[in-house]
Amino acid sequence: MNPKKGRVFSGARPTGRQHLGNYLGAMKNYVALQQDYEAVYCVVDLHALTTLDTTQNLKSNTLDMVLDWLAAGMDPQKAIIFIQSHVPQVTELHTILSMVTQLGKLTDLPTFKEKVRQQPHNVNYGLVGYPVLMASDIVLYKADTVPVGVDQAPHIEFTREIVRSFNFRYNTTVLIEPQMKVTEFPKVLGIDGQQKMGKSLDNHIEMAATQEETQKRVMMMVTDPQRQRKSDPGNPDVCNVFTMHKIFSHPEEVASINKECRNAGIGCVDCKKIFAKNLNEKLMPFRDKRAEFEKNSDQVWDILSDGSRRARVIAEETMIEVRAAIGLP
Ligand code: TRP
Repeated sequence: MNPKKGRVFSGARPTGRQHLGNYLGAMKNYVALQQDYEAVYCVVDLHALTTLDTTQNLKSNTLDMVLDWLAAGMDPQKAIIFIQSHVPQVTELHTILSMVTQLGKLTDLPTFKEKVRQQPHNVNYGLVGYPVLMASDIVLYKADTVPVGVDQAPHIEFTREIVRSFNFRYNTTVLIEPQMKVTEFPKVLGIDGQQKMGKSLDNHIEMAATQEETQKRVMMMVTDPQRQRKSDPGNPDVCNVFTMHKIFSHPEEVASINKECRNAGIGCVDCKKIFAKNLNEKLMPFRDKRAEFEKNSDQVWDILSDGSRRARVIAEETMIEVRAAIGLP
């Protein structure tokens, strides 16, 4: 029945409204992959608990992210879209996989060490097990392909190790070693033009922002730092606004901006105004669609509960095999 290439799984923490970095780095790929793969996309609310001080906004952040997902074209007809905690089998698998995972390897991971630096007051047990829970996500759905950013590479490698040790220990082949699929866009810089776009740095542009907010954020963008005044020639090669033009503007306009910037024919302010206009135009259909979904948020929760129902079927099938492979009585 399924001529698809295989199954992709990806998860994202519920961070609320998504920004251009999320879109280019993840969501765009999710949308593309659901055509050729069986796709399973998950809001990892349990993972979020490892770093949250309060769960006050967890539900609204989940809804905001899923609204963006749906508006961007993630399609419940093509993909299973669901919330991690709605499929409790993942926590069972997490416990089981924790017994074939060496503690020292978990505490050696760069991602763990970074978290310890970020929240020394809260080095909780869940934080140590974070990659085991992530491995459980992936193998529970027998995904063979995982689209993620490069920062997640150690976690995917770790998942593969856990799978090998489980299969070896219980002399089985029930778990599948996934492959990582690095998302095309390596790094989307924030409006500071320096660091990766992210909410915590407040250097992001939200997809669902209003036209005015978008314009305001774009006008704050840092351009070629060498260029002092409009009469100086600029260098598009080192300008983040130009990088964005290449993604969101017409190729002809990109070519002319490239030329006019180099010969000081166009200044940074005008260049950014054009970008803001183009970006707003590009995001218009997304924003309209999002507003529609937002009016019908009950429908969104229905999509998620249908997703978790479908996910639970696959999850339970895997768990039956896993329990049998171990020989649990
Ligand atoms: N660790 C991922 C992140 O922080 C989120 C995640 C959880 C995930 N489970 C996953 C990603 C499974 C891919 C597959 O971004």
